[in-house]
Amino acid sequence: MPLYTNLDRIELGLAAQGIGPRAAIRPEQLFALDQWHYHGTEAIAAAARALGLTARSRVLDVGAGVGGPARYLAHTVGCHVTALELQPELHAIGADLTRRTGLGDRVTHVCGDALTYVFPDGCFDAAVSFLAIVHMSDRPKLFGRLANALRRGGGYIEDLCQRAPFAPSDLADLRDVVCANTITSQDDYGCDLRDARFGDISVTDLTPDWAPFAIERLDGATLACLGGVRLLAHLA
Ligand SMILES: C[S@@+](CC[C@H](N)C(=O)[O-])C[C@H]1O[C@@H](n2cnc3c(N)ncnc32)[C@H](O)[C@@H]1O
Repeated sequence: MPLYTNLDRIELGLAAQGIGPRAAIRPEQLFALDQWHYHGTEAIAAAARALGLTARSRVLDVGAGVGGPARYLAHTVGCHVTALELQPELHAIGADLTRRTGLGDRVTHVCGDALTYVFPDGCFDAAVSFLAIVHMSDRPKLFGRLANALRRGGGYIEDLCQRAPFAPSDLADLRDVVCANTITSQDDYGCDLRDARFGDISVTDLTPDWAPFAIERLDGATLACLGGVRLLAHLA
């Protein structure tokens, strides 16, 4: 998945703060560098509030990237987070950053595919995912697996969605620029959660909020029918 090319960007950002490649890092020094979704740590703090996370919570972060959301939750809430990431390069960067921030006792990095990685049933209190599920080919399967992995609690998702039928040229951008494998309406997203035993589902349209950033991030791709959505759901 050629989503990210310049993977040295974090070390370059740290170097600009006078932090060398193996040096210890304060978590705050990463916040501007390791949150690969819209609205940075603000979005993660909102998830923590919505899910009612506490220091005793065990949280799964699906599509963790370099672990920014996981470290932020562990640092600010004190919970334990399992950061599941598909791409070995990102997983390795994330594990190194976590070790250097001293959060290794609260963040466990796991390299694997969310559609197949085996978790013991009922081992998490909450699942979060930021801009990652759009890349996965089987959302119903993912949600079924998340429902089994949760012992109670719920899930908090921010992701891309479809607001109107895509033009043929959009489909190429979705495939090549966004690396999207599943992109649907907000209603269909919520239906997949319901079918997987989640209830009490709230769906928020984030499109107006994300639009200015999305245009910049997508490097000129004009995806007028692309939107953003936040979903909060609890095990029924
Ligand atoms: C846009 S990034 C967001 C990273 C992180 N959630 C954040 O907000 O900083 C999406 C991540 O999802 C990961 N991903 C995609 N498909 C995955 C899968 N099947 N299992 C686990 N991770 C996956 C990608 O490798 C990528 O790192």
